[in-house]
Amino acid sequence: MSSRTVDGSAGDADYGTIGGGYADYRRPDERIAALLTGALDGAGTVLNVGAGAGSYESVAAEVTAVEPSASMRAQRPGRLSPAIDAVAERLPFPDRHFDAAMTTFSVHQWSELTAGLREMRRVARGPVLVLTCDPDLVRDFWLYEYAPLVLDTEARRYPAIADIADALGGDVTVQRVPIPADCTDGFNEAYYARPEMLLDPGARQACSAWSFVDAATAEQYTEHLRRDLRSGAWDRRHGALRGQPSLEGSLVLVRALPA
Ligand SMILES: C[S@@+](CC[C@H](N)C(=O)[O-])C[C@H]1O[C@@H](n2cnc3c(N)ncnc32)[C@H](O)[C@@H]1O
Repeated sequence: MSSRTVDGSAGDADYGTIGGGYADYRRPDERIAALLTGALDGAGTVLNVGAGAGSYESVAAEVTAVEPSASMRAQRPGRLSPAIDAVAERLPFPDRHFDAAMTTFSVHQWSELTAGLREMRRVARGPVLVLTCDPDLVRDFWLYEYAPLVLDTEARRYPAIADIADALGGDVTVQRVPIPADCTDGFNEAYYARPEMLLDPGARQACSAWSFVDAATAEQYTEHLRRDLRSGAWDRRHGALRGQPSLEGSLVLVRALPA
């Protein structure tokens, strides 16, 4: 079972410390939201696990949210139902209670991935959706030239897609999710065409992998990027991305239907 911090955080990141500005920088992106809504296939009742501040909770469905961190629960807007304080590994619901279950940007933080995914499968009658990053693709992003330890951390934390598929079982499909150039959900790759955004400490703090490198290293990484942006070195190598409407990065949607 996961150990929990004062804030209640159950994963490997302490949202009591880093979660403060999360909702400002990690606003759900409507194009990614549309993809999730389509994959929910008209589900009337949906469980959202590791729900955080409520990103991607469909307004069309009746959503039950589960979120262990008090800081994240406090950032949920008033129009959403309050989240239940629980963890993926032990969901307080009967078998087949929901039409569908989803989790976004969360599985890499769980202490027991297989247990959490089996719980999601247990409580959902229909699709289980996992929006996550493929660890084999994380280091392909240009940020690896500047912040190698940050992306090494991400690659180490994200579970292999095959392990997710195995734990969920049934009929599993995996889809690469295009990241729009103006993506409003500020995970690292969301800034592929707007590198200046990663000079903003708030933007970095909203990507939990940055909290795994010490402040001096993060500053050194940021300074390198700042220098290359100022000198034009970044643009000479990657400037074409500024005009590219979307990126196929490491973001994937895993969808499992029961056997
Ligand atoms: C990066 S945030 C993502 C929040 C939200 N789903 C989103 O897309 O913005 C990861 C969330 O997973 C939650 N989390 C970590 N470990 C968990 C666990 N074992 N069970 C459920 N949620 C967990 C964290 O508290 C945090 O709110």
